[in-house]
Amino acid sequence: MIDLRSDTVTKPTPEMREAMARAEVGDDVLSEDPTVNALEARCAELMGMEAGLFVASGTMGNQAALFAHTKRGDEVIVEQYAHVGMYEGGAFAVLSGLVLNKLVGRPWGVLDPNEVRDAIAPDDVHRAPTTLVCLENTHNMSSGTVITAEQTRAVADVAHGRGLKLHIDGARIFNAATCLGVEARLLVKHADSVQFCFSKGLAAPVGSMVCGTREFILRARRARKLMGGGMRQAGVLAAACHVSLDTIVPRLHEDHAHARLIAEELATHDGVSIDLNAIQTNIIRFALDPTVMEGRRLAGLLRDRGILIDARGGQKFRLVTHNDVSADDAQTVAQAFAEVLTV
Ligand SMILES: Cc1ncc(COP(=O)(O)O)c(C=O)c1O
Repeated sequence: MIDLRSDTVTKPTPEMREAMARAEVGDDVLSEDPTVNALEARCAELMGMEAGLFVASGTMGNQAALFAHTKRGDEVIVEQYAHVGMYEGGAFAVLSGLVLNKLVGRPWGVLDPNEVRDAIAPDDVHRAPTTLVCLENTHNMSSGTVITAEQTRAVADVAHGRGLKLHIDGARIFNAATCLGVEARLLVKHADSVQFCFSKGLAAPVGSMVCGTREFILRARRARKLMGGGMRQAGVLAAACHVSLDTIVPRLHEDHAHARLIAEELATHDGVSIDLNAIQTNIIRFALDPTVMEGRRLAGLLRDRGILIDARGGQKFRLVTHNDVSADDAQTVAQAFAEVLTV
């Protein structure tokens, strides 16, 4: 099957499995796993930050960062559809006792610095103190659109000017960097922390990285333990992540080209709503007019042709390209849409 439901469905490559088998390991809770330690140092360097922390998932990375930046009762400014606020089980409230102030991202998940400035709570006993702003790059709910270094800087300037920190949920930061043709470190240069995932477009089986200052990472390390995320011989996982950086990051532009190809086919069909300008990386979002076809029927017809898509959104779909979708697969998908949507 060609599985477009998510970039989390990728299987580890043979090279990853081999690296996992060969990995030197130790007890990572004691900071004694050489493969994890090397990955943390490598990622900190890549992000231009002081230190890194290997965690089990993107959710754990974001939540450890929130925990480390704030105290109970603080308010965090986020974009309205940000993963950290919508899809992490309310962990910001459960684990860190935070409230969110959700702003409309315009365009495509980018926070307007003036709106951020206006949203910061004044020093008033009635208000929860605002201490953190979060950005998501790429922005999942907007089709994987990218936030530029300049846009990030504008938000960071406002946040820092008022003594707030800036965290970036960079689950797909390497997709953003690839799209913009810049080093990932440039996109997080003005932030205080970043979380990015190895288990999405980077095709590793497990793991995310949080980066920031040494002092922040010490607090995030405590949070990771508190959340039950202290892993022991985690080097077997980190070994695959090293391979991601070596072999998958350099090929992400292929995923973007495949997404583009499929999106351009979709855009030729009546009843398909798609914003081609928002197809910048590996995520395609589109809506299908129910008078053309019920969403579930579309998913069924594609399944008959060996293509899996997520049909939980009714008439709204998200397709994601990744390392297990080849150029031929992308052609097959485009051809399948051409057939099933041409009535
Ligand atoms: C933007 C974004 N942030 C964070 C996460 C959470 O990652 P995980 O599923 O590894 O917890 C996801 C997952 O899809 C995501 O898309």
